Amino acid sequence: MYISELIKRKRDGSELSKDEINYMVNGFVKGHIPDYQMAALLMAIYFRGMSATECIDLTMAMVDSGDKVDLSGIEGSKVDKHSTGGVGDKTTLVLAPLVAASGGIVAKMTGRELGHTGGTVDKLESIPGMQVELPKEKFVEVVNHIHVSIAAQTALLVPADKHMYALRNRTATVDSIPLIASSIMSKKLAAGSDGIVLDVKTGVGAFMQKYEDALELAATMVDIGEGAGKRVVALITSMEQPLGYAIGNAIEVKEAIDTLRGDGPQDLVDLVKELGSDMLLISGVVSSRNQAIDIIGRNIETKKGLEKLGELIEAQGGNREVIENPGLLPQPKINIEVKSKSSGFVEKIDARDVGLASKILGAGRKTKDQPIDPSIGIYLMKKVGDKVEEGESLATFYSDGNKDKIEPAKERFLNAYSIGRKRVKPPRLFYARVNRNGVEDLK
Ligand code: URA
Repeated sequence: MYISELIKRKRDGSELSKDEINYMVNGFVKGHIPDYQMAALLMAIYFRGMSATECIDLTMAMVDSGDKVDLSGIEGSKVDKHSTGGVGDKTTLVLAPLVAASGGIVAKMTGRELGHTGGTVDKLESIPGMQVELPKEKFVEVVNHIHVSIAAQTALLVPADKHMYALRNRTATVDSIPLIASSIMSKKLAAGSDGIVLDVKTGVGAFMQKYEDALELAATMVDIGEGAGKRVVALITSMEQPLGYAIGNAIEVKEAIDTLRGDGPQDLVDLVKELGSDMLLISGVVSSRNQAIDIIGRNIETKKGLEKLGELIEAQGGNREVIENPGLLPQPKINIEVKSKSSGFVEKIDARDVGLASKILGAGRKTKDQPIDPSIGIYLMKKVGDKVEEGESLATFYSDGNKDKIEPAKERFLNAYSIGRKRVKPPRLFYARVNRNGVEDLK
């Protein structure tokens, strides 16, 4: 195959065949195709897009580049969940144990922080002893045993994505919908579940800021997953302001525990119920959404979800006492109140700026291999629609006391808040549900 001819055909808008796509992905992973040719193809895809068939072929070629998790020995329908990333998005920590407590089987592979957003692996690792880098066999064993496991994506799954993502990052080709969709879906398909529920975020704190882009990404991922024989549902949800009140790692685990105890923020509870009902529906555990929402609500009230989180922590080597005593989670050196400079109503909170402020404060990594300080974070005291007086706290910073971080973090954080004269309604949380039947407007 003449690689330059193949790149030229994509550059000029032709569709690539399955064999051509396999040839490129395999050759690249094995090192036979150099970076410069793969980069040229990625740029051609960036400008020309991909047909539905090409997206499926690319995703399957990526899946076939590495190991797969075999969950077929576990009886029942296994379900996974993925969020495209947000600020304060601790949904998985609440949702996975709740769905398992409600009769679902949750096999969730997950990642670390990305850009201004946090990562579930980092959050879980703030629990003393908790192991998230599990060997494949241990992941399957835990799912089999307690019907839920949350594990870090292993490097052996979809090596093509690792190499392609690194190249995309260096060649301005990350923000291409077919490339994002195939990157996400290849990892979900290799992780072995029968059903996948996707939380596609839109708004200022999301990677897909425009609703139209989020919708296209959701529809592309649903088509890929359904094309591969899985049941897939995507919800498009808001990432205008942070989710809940806590942003960081240990602080988000604490908020997740509070939510499972029945003291959670309303937006997080609503999101968990909506995503959870889709997970239970596609697993065939329930026959109606109302039934699913009732079961989930009851399992919050009876603390069965919290119990399940305890089981999950224990099964993965962690100290399950944190669920009764969150004080066992890493604690910050100092708390700092960040005060409003004006009076009025909170009109907007730029979720991206809040995410970046938490990273500046120390809740993220500066370099890839740097350890995270899990105790650092931001707890919001005011959200959109709340009244605030000059001098009142907008947030508490959980800090290591380093002034070189505190001052720039404060500046970025205060920048995120717009305070005006009129009370505004909080932004809507749900936009649409996308499945194989089309798009349902949730306005
Ligand atoms: N997350 C992924 O896993 N892949 C992308 O391409 C973008 C976000």
